[in-house]
Order: sequence, then structure tokens, then C-alpha cells
Amino acid sequence: MSNVRDSADFAGEAIVVRGGAPLDGVVDVPGAKNSVLKLMAATLLTDGRFELTNVPDIADVAIMSELLEAIGVRVERPTGDRMFATDNGDLTPVAPYELVERIRASINVLGPLLTRCGHVRLSMPGGDDFGARPIDMHVAGLEAMGATFKFSHGYLEAFADRLHGAEIAFDFPSVGATENLVTAAVLADGRTRIDNVAREPEVIDLCEFLVAMGARIDGIGSPTLTIDGVERHELHAVSHHTVPDRIQTATYLAAAAVSGGSIVVRGARPDHMVTVLDRFREMGLGIEVADDELRVDAPERLRSIDVATLPYPGIATDYKPLIITMLAVADGVGIVTENLYPGRFRYVEELQRLGADVRTSGHHAVVRGVPRLSGAPVRAHDIRAGAAMVVAGLAAEGETTIGGVHHIDRGYDDLVGRLAAAGAAVTRVGS
Ligand code: UD1
Repeated sequence: MSNVRDSADFAGEAIVVRGGAPLDGVVDVPGAKNSVLKLMAATLLTDGRFELTNVPDIADVAIMSELLEAIGVRVERPTGDRMFATDNGDLTPVAPYELVERIRASINVLGPLLTRCGHVRLSMPGGDDFGARPIDMHVAGLEAMGATFKFSHGYLEAFADRLHGAEIAFDFPSVGATENLVTAAVLADGRTRIDNVAREPEVIDLCEFLVAMGARIDGIGSPTLTIDGVERHELHAVSHHTVPDRIQTATYLAAAAVSGGSIVVRGARPDHMVTVLDRFREMGLGIEVADDELRVDAPERLRSIDVATLPYPGIATDYKPLIITMLAVADGVGIVTENLYPGRFRYVEELQRLGADVRTSGHHAVVRGVPRLSGAPVRAHDIRAGAAMVVAGLAAEGETTIGGVHHIDRGYDDLVGRLAAAGAAVTRVGS
């Protein structure tokens, strides 16, 4: 294992954090990765020139742009947070392995391409390194709407002259399956009703984007969505402001919490974070909310709590590495239960290298807080775990070097610059 640590992840760039400096400053939060990637995919429903604003400058957006370009969409980024996607109607509904294997959200082109083109060929999607991520619900839902599937040589092919409405009930409120099926249903023939849908703010952002385009969707924000299919000429390109990133917001709150600092986070949507803010308050964080701003004051020492991840409005699994990091330096013992991805504890061994007392068993972690972590080289295993390592570095004595920075770059728009501007001793090194 140490060879991998030494060679692969530390050969390129690394983030170096010096713990001990309390944060003090203002952080502006960019748009949500998990929204913008789906908005980009949904532009495939019709031709015209779409404008997206509040687009984060992250690697996954660049990869999704390449994927759209490969399909036949012209993508322009006139400024860091603005994007145009222009489609002249000449699409090749094929999503190649080289791009799809790099981001999970590439599965989101399945619904729009199938409903628009009647055929799609898609490499089976990749994603984060935290366990199997099947797509059976996407496939079953589209089959209920009349699609047929073939799987061979790592590709899936889907066919449908025109999808038709259907009654679909999810066993579990999958974010990706909800998004794919809603988008596909927009151009289906007749009414589609989907029960037990995901209600994450990013799903709602997509639904509102689709409605602005001319889609007919009822029940947005509730567990049941009803979509009445429209004809393609009834849809049109629109301009849309991407919802702020609640996971990045929580990352800056966690950074202030463990560093003993006090910051203002601007451009956020506190109303999308009610549950997690309650839990942070229970841990002793002082949080004041005013419109799109959060003012955060860290206590002398955080208090431990128990946390279980759940679909929205529960605590998102993406917050969990941050919460475990906060618990690692809190007073007391906290039990964290993962209900979405049982394998999502790989980063715990990295936290242990920093002196955290964390034990995992199945989908539980028991975290016994220690007063301070101690800096060491660690590795980012995925986007959120990587950001949590940077946060852990702020709570550590001495220097923490985080390798595998490309994982963090997938979902964080200038994490280092934003933290440094708020007073953290953090830099990026290497080439
Ligand atoms: C999205 C987010 C991810 C977040 C997750 C849960 C993006 C790009 N990613 O992922 O950051 O952690 O929501 O909030 O938006 N499942 C099945 N079959 C399916 C689909 C899902 O078994 O067909 C299972 C998954 O394996 C997982 C659970 O359902 O255990 C949740 O998956 P889902 O909600 O679909 O997450 P994603 O859309 O992949």
C-alpha cells in the first residue's frame, strides 16, 4: 500500500495544510456540481442556446463539457462561472468509455438522449471509489416507459421509438434515477407518475429548469412527481442560475468548526441545509442565518453527536466525511451510521494516520474525539473524503500533505484559494 501512496498520489500535485490557524474571513460558495452536471445533460432535450450561470469551475464540469461536445453540443465558457451550450440538432447519441468512466453523472445523458433520439449507446458509468453503484432503477424505469436495452462489451444500448407514460414506484429515492426518468418523461407520450422520488435541492433545481424549458411537471419537492409529456417543439432553450453547492458550504463550516475560527459564508442556501445546520448547532457551532449568508462561530471545543445518513431532507452521505472529521476532534464519542453506501468509510484509515480514534464495523463508525490531530501525509480517496482530509489538516498539529488532489478538483472550485483567503495556512504544491 505504501508504494501506491508514495508513487501514484504524491507524484503530481498535493495540498499542504499547516494546522492551528483559526479561520477568519468571508467565503463565497459556487454553484452545485450535483446540479450543474444534470442541467448540462438536460440541455440535450432540445436544440438552441442554453445559458447556465453560477457554474463551478471544477473538473467534472470540464469532463461533462467534453461529453456534450462528443455528442454534438458546442460548449463555451466565456467566464469562470458562465456557460453556453448550443445544440444545432445534429446529435450523435453515443457516450464513449473514455469520458463516461470518469464521472458518474454521465449516466444522466441516458434519459434525454433516449427520449430525444430514440437510441443511445452509453458506456457503463464510473464514479467515486466507494462501492458498487448500480443503475437497475434507471433501466427498470425506462423499460416501464417502453425502452428496450442491450448490454454488451461494457456498453448499454437503449432503444425506443417514442417513450410512453408509466406508473413507477421507487423502492428507494435514488437521485440519479429520479433525474433520468423525469427528464426522459418530459418528451414521452402521455403521463408519467413516479412515487418515492428523491427530493434533493439539486433534483428540484433540475425540475425547475425543465419547467422553464416548457416541461409540465407537478409535485416538485414532494415524494410524487407527475410529468405530462410535451412535443419537442414546445421546449426551448433557457437561461438558468445553478443552485448553490450545499456540500461545499458545509465544507467551509466544518473548516471553521475544527480550526476554532469564525467565518461568513456567502451565496449559500441555508434553507437547503436545515437538518445539517441543526446537527452542527448541536455540536456547539454558533450559526446565524440571514438570506444567503451563514455566520459561523466555532466553540472552544466541539461536542460529539450521533449521526445517520439518509436521503434528503436527512443528512446527506456527502457530508459524512466532514462530520467524522469534526467528531474526530470533538469532546465525547459519536456514532455515525451510513445508510446509502456501506463501503463509504475508506478515508477513515487516512484519518487514523492523523491520530483520529475511529473504528468502523459494517456501516457504522465509532468516533472517540481527541483534542488535536497530528499532521501526516494522507490521500484523497474521493471528492468529499479529499476535502475532509484538508479540513482534518486544519485541526492537526504541524503539516498535513494531501495527495490525490485530482479527486478534490472534480468537485471543489478552488478549495485552497477560498480557505487561504479566509486565513487558513494552505497551499498547493507540485505540478
Ligand atoms: C448522487 C450524488 C452523490 C450522492 C448521492 C446520494 C451526483 C452526481 N451524485 O449520486 O454525490 O452521494 O446522490 O445523495 O449527483 N442505487 C441502486 N440502483 C440504482 C440507483 C441507485 O441500487 O439504479 C443505490 C446506490 O447504489 C446507492 C443509493 O441507491 O446505494 C443512492 O444512489 P443515488 O441516490 O442514485 O445516488 P447517485 O445519483 O448515484
